Amino acid sequence: MAILLPGGAGYIGSHTAVELLNAGKEIIIIDNFSNSKPEVLENIKKITGKKFKFYEIDYLDKEKLEKVFKENQIDSVINFAGFKAVGESVQKPIEYYTNNISGALVLLSVMKKYGCKKFVFSSSATVYGNPEIVPLTEECKVGGITNPYGNTKLFIEQILRDLYKSDNTWDICILRYFNPVGAHESGLIGEEPQGIPNNLMPYIVRVANGELEQLSVFGDDYDTKDGTGVRDYIHVVDLAKGHLKALEKLDKEEKGLYIYNLGTGVGYSVLDIVKVFEKVTGKKISYKIAPRRQGDIAICYADPKKAKEELKWEAIKTLEDMCRDSWNYIEKR
Ligand code: UD1
Repeated sequence: MAILLPGGAGYIGSHTAVELLNAGKEIIIIDNFSNSKPEVLENIKKITGKKFKFYEIDYLDKEKLEKVFKENQIDSVINFAGFKAVGESVQKPIEYYTNNISGALVLLSVMKKYGCKKFVFSSSATVYGNPEIVPLTEECKVGGITNPYGNTKLFIEQILRDLYKSDNTWDICILRYFNPVGAHESGLIGEEPQGIPNNLMPYIVRVANGELEQLSVFGDDYDTKDGTGVRDYIHVVDLAKGHLKALEKLDKEEKGLYIYNLGTGVGYSVLDIVKVFEKVTGKKISYKIAPRRQGDIAICYADPKKAKEELKWEAIKTLEDMCRDSWNYIEKR
């Protein structure tokens, strides 16, 4: 029985593929390379020494997706095939709603047709909007999101709740990622944003290697210890391991709809990241203080207790690991 990974050539998908293969699982990747490259598949094989099936298809193409289900025994699906750039989603709402929401609906309807009802969904801490309190537990209020990307995450969560309500033989796990950074320690897979990166760590590594001149720190007047934004950065390998634990939970426990935060529970400021990155890599990061970025919040970090108790999962990698591995990937590229 195989685990299907739509978007498995992407940043989080590829790291999860590695962890699944290392754990002896059979996987099938589908990807249309809209935000990833074919070399990633070769590198997953290099890291693990294992083979897997791959289909180059768009998960919105129902006929082709059905063919994958017909040709294989698929037991569960982890969906990574979402667009994820916040700024771009504001410019291209139709593309974001179509790819993320219509894509998820096509996938779920094909799963239903073929009797595959085990689903892990990549959601985001963005569903909490502007947190009223931190740390954020899974019970905290969701909503108040200001961009289409975040809305797609919230809407799909709701679709999954409705689906489970209509038929409780579905087995669903929603994982709310905090801020994934870092790369596999081999340096063979990592984050490859197109164009100028929007997220902090990809920007910092490109200042470190001279591709970009200077980091703009968006705001130093937040109500935080040094005035800069605080986030819960989590190493992508820890995050990937969380998906294995989620599948184990779905395999073991009675059917249900479960929601977990995947974060470390520790918040670091933008300047913390700059300092630790400089210490670990010996590279100087030139930065200037710039105005706040529209839509940003001051502080966001997880209460990861529920995942620890119920999934027996915990992030173990340090901020030093995250900085070192992000840099190692860029240097090797
Ligand atoms: C963003 C998204 C979130 C998404 C996540 C993916 C928003 C509001 N949220 O989170 O939905 O899941 O990316 O990882 O965009 N910063 C700078 N200079 C930069 C870039 C960032 O100072 O050039 C600061 C930001 O102001 C923030 C922190 O660094 O305080 C982290 O920013 P970023 O990496 O973009 O992630 P989020 O905004 O937290």
